[in-house]
Amino acid sequence: MEKTIAVIRGDGIGPEIVNEAIKVLNRIAAKYGHTFRYVEVDMGGAAIDKWGEPLPAAMLERCLAADSVLLGAVGGPKWDGLPGDQRPEKGLLALRAGMGLYANNRPAKLWPQLAAASPLKPEIVQQGIDFVVVRELIGGVYFGSHTTSQENGEAKATDVMSYSEHEVERIGRIAFETARKRRKKVASVDKANVLDTSRLWRRVMHRLAEEYPDVAYSDVLVDNAAMQIVKDPSQFDVLVTENMFGDILSDEASMITGSIGMIPSSSLGEGSRGLYEPIHGSAPDIAGQDKANPIGTILSAAMLLKYSFDLDAEAAAIEAAVGAALDAGLRTGDMLAPGCKPVRCSEMGSAIADFL
Ligand code: IPM
Ligand code: MG
Repeated sequence: MEKTIAVIRGDGIGPEIVNEAIKVLNRIAAKYGHTFRYVEVDMGGAAIDKWGEPLPAAMLERCLAADSVLLGAVGGPKWDGLPGDQRPEKGLLALRAGMGLYANNRPAKLWPQLAAASPLKPEIVQQGIDFVVVRELIGGVYFGSHTTSQENGEAKATDVMSYSEHEVERIGRIAFETARKRRKKVASVDKANVLDTSRLWRRVMHRLAEEYPDVAYSDVLVDNAAMQIVKDPSQFDVLVTENMFGDILSDEASMITGSIGMIPSSSLGEGSRGLYEPIHGSAPDIAGQDKANPIGTILSAAMLLKYSFDLDAEAAAIEAAVGAALDAGLRTGDMLAPGCKPVRCSEMGSAIADFL
């Protein structure tokens, strides 16, 4: 197979973790006889420094011309003072919207080797943690108008949250279809006791639930969902929710699995071209020190092979190699435990490539 992958190294630890994912992809290519070509794309703070904007049109074009896109992380204190529409994060949002990627899939799965790193009590962890957050990614308050004005002698800020029926329906379908391939349970998270957008969300989800009688469906209010995730995460299989709730709950979900550094994600729209990125940020405090955990990015590359290129065996081989590295006791600083061997970011990447 010959494929072109657009690569966005990004800011902070982005370049280091992407290097390790490419190391692993190259090993896969050699072993299975594929050719992966990489096209460099500037986005986020790196693009602001070089081109004066977080996602130049030509960079979005490169992503749209590639077969899929791999991203490290964007943002950092250097660009914190910029106005909202010029920040590095704006580049990421524009990329998601520009590629039409409405369905964000964030697995929260406990690696048994890391059970001790979970902040939850062992008796809760033992019940198992294996669910996915299906997050709507290009609607809601993230994409409504944002304004700050002066009113009655004081500043006033407004962010508009809106959803149309078709936006809810298409992400709902992804959730039900995902559940069909798993344990056939969908929990839809909203705030229908307060928000109109949530009441619309719930109506559409109920209509879809009738089309999927084989999938067990429930509504969960978002505050309750936040509580249930730490109280009894084993009850969840597929959790579907709007953009901002999904942002918040997916961080919570990742943390209970031991380290946010382990969690990959896929963002997909109508075609097979997607955007794959670890869910953690750019960690400026450890950038350039070869300390970061590259596994979230390496597992994102595995998701890319599986969902964009249909290379299931290759993706499974990467997951097995990650498991082997953990079995061997290799740990980056974020998940270090007594009796384990501390390794650097590049050592972890090399070890995983060698286990392939
Ligand atoms: C995420 C991040 C982004 C988001 C930021 C960087 C804009 O937190 O991917 O979860 O809020 O979507
Ligand atoms: Mg987030």
